[in-house]
Amino acid sequence: MNSLQKKKILEIRELSVSFRQYADKRGSRQTSLPVISKLSVSVGEGEIVAVVGSSGSGKSLLAHAILDLLPYNASVSGSMYFQGEPLDKARIRALRGNQIAFVPQSTTYLDPLMPVGGQVSRTRKDKEKKEKQRKIFQRYGLGPEVDGRYPFECSGGMTRRVLLATALMGDPKLIIADEPTPGMDLALAKKSMEDFRAFADEGNGVLLITHDIELALETADRIAVFYAGMTVEEAPVADFASEETLRHPYTKALWRAMPQNGFQPLPGFQPYVKDMPKGCPFGPRCSGYSKGCQGEISMRRVGNGSVRCAAYRDGMSGSAAGQADESANPRAWAEAEAPGA
Ligand SMILES: Nc1ncnc2c1ncn2[C@@H]1O[C@H](COP(=O)(O)OP(=O)(O)OP(=O)(O)O)[C@@H](O)[C@H]1O
Ligand SMILES: [Mg+2]
Repeated sequence: MNSLQKKKILEIRELSVSFRQYADKRGSRQTSLPVISKLSVSVGEGEIVAVVGSSGSGKSLLAHAILDLLPYNASVSGSMYFQGEPLDKARIRALRGNQIAFVPQSTTYLDPLMPVGGQVSRTRKDKEKKEKQRKIFQRYGLGPEVDGRYPFECSGGMTRRVLLATALMGDPKLIIADEPTPGMDLALAKKSMEDFRAFADEGNGVLLITHDIELALETADRIAVFYAGMTVEEAPVADFASEETLRHPYTKALWRAMPQNGFQPLPGFQPYVKDMPKGCPFGPRCSGYSKGCQGEISMRRVGNGSVRCAAYRDGMSGSAAGQADESANPRAWAEAEAPGA
């Protein structure tokens, strides 16, 4: 069954997020800072979908928008659906922590005034829940002495394991995990991915947000690639077997930056929202950039995936480019944007 036929648990279409900010020091004028402009991603039953992209590409904001955790000055547009029904604020609040579990990137999400064991089991009396919590803690190397510790008594890596345990504790339909593995050793990181796989195989979904493209390729079924607040490509993991089967110049550059594919760093920087070029935000780093890339570019379905690239034609994107013509790119090799960095 391909991704189109799978019953969708989560569907996000062209999500935009902007922040109202004061434009001057006197606070007399406000402007709107559009940090995410076109994010689309979906998760089907039985699927792990990884969201990859460099720092600042909008990965956490996507999670926070889905869970209605954005600050008060944020405005959100676009469509969000959970199990086919629109996600509005009331519905999100009802689903959050129940049908939708969240593993946040920041370890400050735990209640500082409550021991971590109780925060995960959410009970003092229910023996079954307490046993389940202990079992998950044990699986992640958290001994019985950790149950009574307050968050400030836990190391960063321990806190991350506690947060992961929170998501595995309930009976959700979807887990949104925002960088769940930093601070974990390889064996624990692998264990957590096995747990996500087992969870998805029961007909559930996982949205796995990560910097680590190798981890994503080992674990996920599909990959959504974000760049400067946009989804630029969405592809089944199998398409990452070679550069030719990928669609967007940025995804191809990420592929070439992997150690097994030549470790070639990508020159230039991801633009900050205030310096966004017209049209494709990857344009200044892409030697296939032309006038045709400067307008609105919509996401196009190509094979089992989709791409947002005006230069994409019959299997050739603007980037055969990025690789062959680095000297033509005016930006220096300033940023070694290797995945996993
Ligand atoms: N409250 C805010 N006000 C203004 N801009 C913000 C706010 N929160 C995030 N941003 C901006 O939105 C962009 C996306 O941020 P986000 O945290 O989603 O990135 P990310 O992809 O999760 O990065 P990382 O990999 O470092 O976690 C960044 O440019 C960030 O500076
Ligand atoms: Mg983040």
